[in-house]
Amino acid sequence: MMSFVTGTRSDGGIMTKETFYITTPIYYPSGQLHIGHSYSTVAVDAMARYKRMRGYDVFFLTGTDEHGQKIQQTAESAGKSPQEYLDEMAVEIKKLWKILDIEYDGFIRTTDDYHEKAVQAIYQQLYDQGDIYKGSYEGLYCTPCEAFWTEGQAVDGCCPDCGAKVEITKETSYFFRLSAYADRLLKMFEDDPEFLLPRSRANEMINNFIKPGLEDVAVTRTSFDWGVRIPFDSEHIAYVWIDALSNYITALGYPHDMTLYNRYWPADVHVIGKEIVRFHSLIWPALLMALKLPLPKQIFAHGWLLFEGDKMSKSKGNVVDPIILTEKYGVDAIRYFLLRNVPFGSDGNFTNRALIERINSDLANDLGNLLNRTVAMIVKSFPEGLPDDYAEEPVDVELDDFADETLKQVEATMDHLEFNHALEAIWAHVGRCNKYIDVTMPWILAREEKDRARLASVLYSLADNLRRIAVMISPFMTRTPVRMREQLGIPESDSEEQGSLTSWKSAGQRDLYQGNANVRRGRPMFPRIDVEKELESLEALL
Ligand code: MSP
Repeated sequence: MMSFVTGTRSDGGIMTKETFYITTPIYYPSGQLHIGHSYSTVAVDAMARYKRMRGYDVFFLTGTDEHGQKIQQTAESAGKSPQEYLDEMAVEIKKLWKILDIEYDGFIRTTDDYHEKAVQAIYQQLYDQGDIYKGSYEGLYCTPCEAFWTEGQAVDGCCPDCGAKVEITKETSYFFRLSAYADRLLKMFEDDPEFLLPRSRANEMINNFIKPGLEDVAVTRTSFDWGVRIPFDSEHIAYVWIDALSNYITALGYPHDMTLYNRYWPADVHVIGKEIVRFHSLIWPALLMALKLPLPKQIFAHGWLLFEGDKMSKSKGNVVDPIILTEKYGVDAIRYFLLRNVPFGSDGNFTNRALIERINSDLANDLGNLLNRTVAMIVKSFPEGLPDDYAEEPVDVELDDFADETLKQVEATMDHLEFNHALEAIWAHVGRCNKYIDVTMPWILAREEKDRARLASVLYSLADNLRRIAVMISPFMTRTPVRMREQLGIPESDSEEQGSLTSWKSAGQRDLYQGNANVRRGRPMFPRIDVEKELESLEALL
């Protein structure tokens, strides 16, 4: 897939940064977003931060999917006009991303004027070149998924994806010639085994959809009117999925202002949930082929956070509101948990118990204690800061070697979006540092003047490795690295700046920590939580 050895390339003598374009799905604002939606966005944010730190020119796109029958119905039942309802929801969603420290570069709303015009241009081109033709649709429709199904695909009259009842639908429609692209789609999967990951998803697409025969897709609707008007037939509006998928290029200005498009397209990776693979890996590439545009380099489908075994969140006995959870435990605990607990690509259960236990063990115990113990010992024994003359005593290199290895693992795993493995590797290093304290017993060394140099070197090793850990966790956790550096007296600087102690490069360098008199104990970054009491108090919120 992506080759990320270097962050810059030479362009006619001028060094320009290599680009990295990453996207989340655009979310339906048909209800409050829950922790499941936050999952995709936090993952993309971590990847975007990582790439920025590696020196890439990153564009991270997210947004809202604002047309379609479901939105229209939701707005109506809230007694509002769709636009009024959507404007309020967009504010709420942006607020949520702010709370979770999501640093996106673009936020597209499909009701944005430029997007609607771009979608019209896309339809016009496809129609003019014969990729769209008029017909009549007769089949099944799932409104929650905004998806067409055939009798054979539905399971007992229900949507095979979400289980909702499908409706029998009959309307005049324009169709996109998806069937004409079957061979090219098959070849696309065969030529690039990493186009769609995990690989099992590609096999599903090939065996369940392409091989049995792809059908053309109805791409316009007439039974309601909340959508982009079709330029060549004003009775019709665009099918919401075509409208939505186009966002990945229209947000870059396609086709009317190509500056960003030329800079960032094709996307490096579209991160999506597994239920929308079909749209992204069949319809979207076929549309791009029809438009004669390059395909995204990769689609990564992550699994679902399950709430009591079910995808949906409502009344499953867990608090899944990311705002409440963040207020209670802090943004970093939530981000850490989402990325650490479940391999990206697999399903995993979300429970409040698992969240609290993870906070206690990994954050309060492992990382929190390591920092606390190190800082407390430095403050106690070296209030003026660690001296520079400890070097007479041989400095242990075992932690440094371990950190080098950890960094290699983080880089290798991040390139495959294996967030949990990256974090696992960092926490193995944290564990190694804690063990180093247990073995070297600095509190004993502190008793005798003759051991002072040895004590300084042990504490230096710990401080320097904590510095490196703070950098390595920066893509995942936004606040903790700052608090760690504050306590260790490390100056904050721009993480992309070369030579700064917060740059990615500095995570690979040894002995950059400088003893200083600003080391100070802070409040515990992650106070230990009483699990049973906390679960009771959370239950009261349900
Ligand atoms: N609007 C479409 C996407 C269009 S992209 C061109 C859509 N929106 S959605 O709001 O229903 O959900 C979008 C995404 O939210 C899912 O693909 C998935 O990434 C994420 N998730 C929603 N619930 C989730 C879980 N319970 N667990 C993990 N991810 C979840 O589909």
